[in-house]
Amino acid sequence: IPVVPFVLVVFGATGDLARRKLLPAMFHRDMAGQLPEAAKIIGAARGKLTADAFIALARESIIEHVPAEERSEADVERFIARLDYRAVEADDDGGWQELAQALASYRERVNVFYLATGPALFGPICERLGRFGMAHGNARVVVEKPIGKNLESAKELNAAIGKVFPEDRVYRIDHYLGKEAVQNLMALRFANGLFEPLWDAAHIDHVQITVAESLGVEGRAGYYDTAGALRDMVQNHILQLLCLVAMEPPARLDADAVRDEKLKVLRALKPIADALSTQAVVRGQYRAGASAGGAVRGYLDELGAETSTTETFVALKAEVQNWRWAGVPFYLRTGKRMPERVSDIVITFRPPPHSVFDASAGPIEANKLVIRLQPDEGVKLWLMTKDPGPGGMRLRSVPLDMSFANAFQVRNPDAYERLVLDVVRGNQTLFMRRDEVEAAWTWIEPILEAWSNAAELPKPYTAGTWGPSAAVALIERDGRTWLDGGA
Ligand code: BG6
Repeated sequence: IPVVPFVLVVFGATGDLARRKLLPAMFHRDMAGQLPEAAKIIGAARGKLTADAFIALARESIIEHVPAEERSEADVERFIARLDYRAVEADDDGGWQELAQALASYRERVNVFYLATGPALFGPICERLGRFGMAHGNARVVVEKPIGKNLESAKELNAAIGKVFPEDRVYRIDHYLGKEAVQNLMALRFANGLFEPLWDAAHIDHVQITVAESLGVEGRAGYYDTAGALRDMVQNHILQLLCLVAMEPPARLDADAVRDEKLKVLRALKPIADALSTQAVVRGQYRAGASAGGAVRGYLDELGAETSTTETFVALKAEVQNWRWAGVPFYLRTGKRMPERVSDIVITFRPPPHSVFDASAGPIEANKLVIRLQPDEGVKLWLMTKDPGPGGMRLRSVPLDMSFANAFQVRNPDAYERLVLDVVRGNQTLFMRRDEVEAAWTWIEPILEAWSNAAELPKPYTAGTWGPSAAVALIERDGRTWLDGGA
């Protein structure tokens, strides 16, 4: 789909997200020939930088985040010629008139305002975009998570944004939706006749979703300590993945058809009645340990605090209370400082009802569909087969294995490359609607409340392990096991 001429204004342009993700993403799209000649990017931030100083910073970001063999000097030059910079204050009117003037000649184009800032600035920035005449019909706003820290603050933020921009011009990014393997989940489910007839409680035993990271909180302890894994990963990324697994087939792939179906799933989530019971939810916090062969510090040490109730790990058992999924547990798990960076969705099917084989054939393992989201994206379908050889019938579980890297041999674009251009194209399918964000908070909030009143701290786990032992017990109590590292 062609990309119309646009101007992208990035607030927080000197920050981490802009430098690590947004500028490299736009650079890659430029190299792919997808940015129209006239496309322009204006960095905006508090710093009184000159345009040249910003351009120098952008050049450094590209060099740091795009491997040398993927770019030429001419590519970099062409890209940075698109850049400009304006200093603006987020909490007073300084610089806004100048920004409005700079944009005046671009009114006929799509104007994208990307708020790569903390959520506290979403309201003030939107208000000024409105007051200074920049929220016109061609303008769209993009906001990053966290959208609030609970239901009430999310509603306030959504209301502040909604005062200036109508919902069809608000793009709430959940970058997991832009990942190739996540979008492939929709292709897998809805472009194949094979799975959908089996996609229900009659045929599926349970679902596991794991998003494990090997990194700790790195330089982000200040933000992270106010969030924790439940807000940082479960409320958004993991619930979105759950929605894509559990939703009914939408009638079309348009934004509202897809988002209506996801919303129904969020609203069907069974409220967690006793969030302090480790049978339902386990929260953990890493202690010193080892990762990637080296010793690493514990969370409190990284934070520089004596104590903190912030969880760096959470495992929980969710249930979607509807006709399709009644009684099927969805085990969800995410953590920092796990043994490896790996994200998987595992669908475990029910075993055959009766075995025709002797005990000597060995046990029949349930079929599993493993969708590897990262790092090495692919799909594996585990099937029972006969072990080759004349020694009689012995059964073995072997995967049909599709690695995307082997199947397609193309570079896997970063989620932001797709998502920013979707904003320009006006396609909201991969963005969260206001009611979805609020429904997700509605389900999360009782857990947060129970924790905030709890006397006990998160359970410790050693960095470089799969979390507290209570997380293993959470699933093993039901006679199932986590498929660590995706099987
Ligand atoms: C972000 C979280 O949304 O997602 C981070 O704030 C986390 O804490 C990151 O590290 C994980 O994203 P990815 O794309 O590296 O899996």
